[in-house]
Amino acid sequence: MKTGSKFVCQECGAILAKWMGQCDVCRGWNCVVEEVIEIANPKSAVCIPDDFLVALPEPGDFSELNEPVTKRHRSTLEELDRVLGGGLVDGSVILLGGPPGIGKSTLLLQLLSNISEIENYVYISAEESTKQVMLRANRLGIHNPNLVIASSSDIHQILQAIRQFRHNSIVVIDSIQTVSSNLIQSPPGSISQVRFCTQELVKFAKANDVIVVIVGHITKDGAIAGPKTLEHMVDCVLYFEGDRALDYKIIRGEKNRFGPTDEIGVFAMTGGGLEEIHNPSAAFLSEHDNQVSGVAVFSGIEGTRPILSEMQALVSYTSLAIPRRSSVGFDVNRLSMLVAVLATRCKMSFSNKDIFVNIAGGLRITEPAADLAIAAAIISAANQKPLPTRSVFFGEVGLSGELRQSPLSFARVKEALKLGFINIFCAHKTEDFESSPELNVVKVKSIRDLATMLHKGGLE
Ligand code: TYD
Ligand code: MG
Repeated sequence: MKTGSKFVCQECGAILAKWMGQCDVCRGWNCVVEEVIEIANPKSAVCIPDDFLVALPEPGDFSELNEPVTKRHRSTLEELDRVLGGGLVDGSVILLGGPPGIGKSTLLLQLLSNISEIENYVYISAEESTKQVMLRANRLGIHNPNLVIASSSDIHQILQAIRQFRHNSIVVIDSIQTVSSNLIQSPPGSISQVRFCTQELVKFAKANDVIVVIVGHITKDGAIAGPKTLEHMVDCVLYFEGDRALDYKIIRGEKNRFGPTDEIGVFAMTGGGLEEIHNPSAAFLSEHDNQVSGVAVFSGIEGTRPILSEMQALVSYTSLAIPRRSSVGFDVNRLSMLVAVLATRCKMSFSNKDIFVNIAGGLRITEPAADLAIAAAIISAANQKPLPTRSVFFGEVGLSGELRQSPLSFARVKEALKLGFINIFCAHKTEDFESSPELNVVKVKSIRDLATMLHKGGLE
């Protein structure tokens, strides 16, 4: 066995020929680290002749399959179950990523309080001592007699300890960046260590049909350290997002081999741990009754669930040569496009104005249906005139200024009505809704019609 070294970027996983201050691939600074590798002698490799037939180890047989493939274990956290596609699947490996302090350890301890048909609960912390975790569990009111809490950062010791478990067991490893193997020369948290430890845990989960949940810290750019390599090794990648200072923490599925990836789960951190927010629409709307300019309510869909959120816009004079277009929670390129459409199709002038957009409550919206609400908020901010009260907006804006209908409009309208919004601004081709005396549907053909309508005072 010979040893050599390679230079690995800790941000993107690229392997470089020599050490350099800036990674050639991701352009990150100070992220290239030398890692020692052991090279097997090619002469010692066993040669298998071409015509030698090797049987696959234990191929599966459909006729022996007597239980549904997607048997799921539900937990007491409904919001998390929904993101997972209805619960945890035996033998699956879940990676939970998030910035430090967002509540990953808290969430997983709460998850371990009770899961249907699970007999063995194991929480292994490589960051905190057993006593610290036990104190926290106690404070969270977790009294699960089957919960075993331990502290170790050696992956081999962990694997040795958990190999007795078979299906109906769950093992949590907190976190993958702090466990390591002495077979790998590089320090804990390096790409080689993280990749090796994850691989061993995946092998263990698949061989023993045990659910393994791995915590992963994310880098300053929002990617799990050792990013793409880890994401394709596991079955499910969840991100816990939201600022530490913000009220709401959102769990979002990034990849899921056993369910959808477009669902979100909403939580709030309280003195007694994470609390589920079952009615996020009410949570994301702030209290002022639409009586300020630059505020529009959007009826959006997250996965299968309609959620109302508040879009805020501010248009202010600037002395900068290139005015600013800045947004929090909304794609800034899409914002620039909307501003260009408003300027060209509605003859609004923004050349000497900065435009800021914010989505209240820390929500991040990627749906094109949010265009109409953002446009309405900008028009209202530019005119300094509040939008008609109790109104919601949804619809995609095209480059020619025309409005395109959005899917699941009925669910959007129903949610709006439930929260007392009666004026529905949507694309003119949106299907008709059941007539209801209090409902006022305003079908808008183009962004220009909306601007004219709002300028004149709209529905007031
Ligand atoms: P933690 O789960 O340790 O975060 P992570 O594992 O993602 O780093 O949670 C950290 C924060 O949550 C910490 O700043 C304190 C806060 N917290 C509460 O507000 N209430 C609680 O009951 C708990 C357990 C934590
Ligand atoms: Mg933690």
